[in-house]
Amino acid sequence: MKKHNFSAGPCILPQSVLQQSAEAVLNFNNSNLSLIEISHRSKDFVAVMENARNLALEHLGLQNKGYQALFLQGGASLQFLMAAYNLLEKKAAYLNTGTWSDKAIKEAKLLGEVVEVATSKSENFNFIPKNYTIPKDADYFHCTSNNTIFGTQMRTFPETEIPMVCDMSSDIFSRQLDFSKFSLIYAGAQKNMGPAGTTLVVIKEDILGKVSRAIPSMLSYKVHIDKESMFNTPAVFSVYVSMLTLEWLKEKGGITAIEKVNNQKAELLYSEIDRNPLFEGFVAEKEDRSKMNATFNLKNDKLKATFDEHLKQAGINGLNGHRSVGGYRASMYNALPLESVQILVDVMQAIEKGA
Ligand SMILES: Cc1ncc(COP(=O)(O)O)c(C=O)c1O
Repeated sequence: MKKHNFSAGPCILPQSVLQQSAEAVLNFNNSNLSLIEISHRSKDFVAVMENARNLALEHLGLQNKGYQALFLQGGASLQFLMAAYNLLEKKAAYLNTGTWSDKAIKEAKLLGEVVEVATSKSENFNFIPKNYTIPKDADYFHCTSNNTIFGTQMRTFPETEIPMVCDMSSDIFSRQLDFSKFSLIYAGAQKNMGPAGTTLVVIKEDILGKVSRAIPSMLSYKVHIDKESMFNTPAVFSVYVSMLTLEWLKEKGGITAIEKVNNQKAELLYSEIDRNPLFEGFVAEKEDRSKMNATFNLKNDKLKATFDEHLKQAGINGLNGHRSVGGYRASMYNALPLESVQILVDVMQAIEKGA
């Protein structure tokens, strides 16, 4: 039975990418060797790393603009610490829009003063705070573009003279932005890029070298840049699959083309959540709704067993909300086809009709 995979991450990847990855595990580039049993210093793998790094910059429109792309390990969670380690001298400004921002703040506090410019924590992060002031004397401003757990997304980003750092783990490559506004972007691969195990870091080189602390090699962006993302053995499989997904995205027409489909998917689902009297969305302001992770609930809990059974029958997978929030969460990452969202909407309409 065909599955419709709405998982929040790890999540759906393009079928063609899975097929190519499976083949490469058995026989990489017709070498009769597996991708995962050859040296990461071999010509063939070095080419993969180079291609992946170039594609990432190309998609973001950041080639030849002083940026470097790295594929590191340790997840986006290590970037919470690494960003602060490399950039925080005295004080940093953070916008707190969810659990992930909260965790980033916790790590930064180990290294200096953190000014929380605004937070929606008291409302369980159900909106994106606006109209806050960023202190000009902070070393950088950090934000999270998409709150994967509660389902909110920043539509606009502040104008600020200080370097802007953004955790784009759950919406990277899903929408067009002026990426040159950001000095550091990081994203765990396991949403719009590939398997867990590697994290994309895109960094403007001129923001480095300004902190006085000694930085351990593995935590130093400079070391990873100097070693072309090969300071130590990279997560070869994750980087390879990420490269394939970035190639797939290019064939689709890049971010601009995928954004159109992402808009259609979000429009289709949110219109149903708003129209169908059995459901309600979580997010307070419609303008803050995430186009990647739509959160919603059944107004009548007694229908849960019926709805869940319908979802199962339709082959819908991964719709449970995050354990800290409950309810339902439909994650509609780049590789999820519009057809899957239509199936979900059909199920929502079927239980409304009492089917
Ligand atoms: C926005 C965001 N930031 C950070 C993380 C943590 O990523 P990792 O598990 O790669 O450390 C996640 C994970 O879902 C996330 O959604």
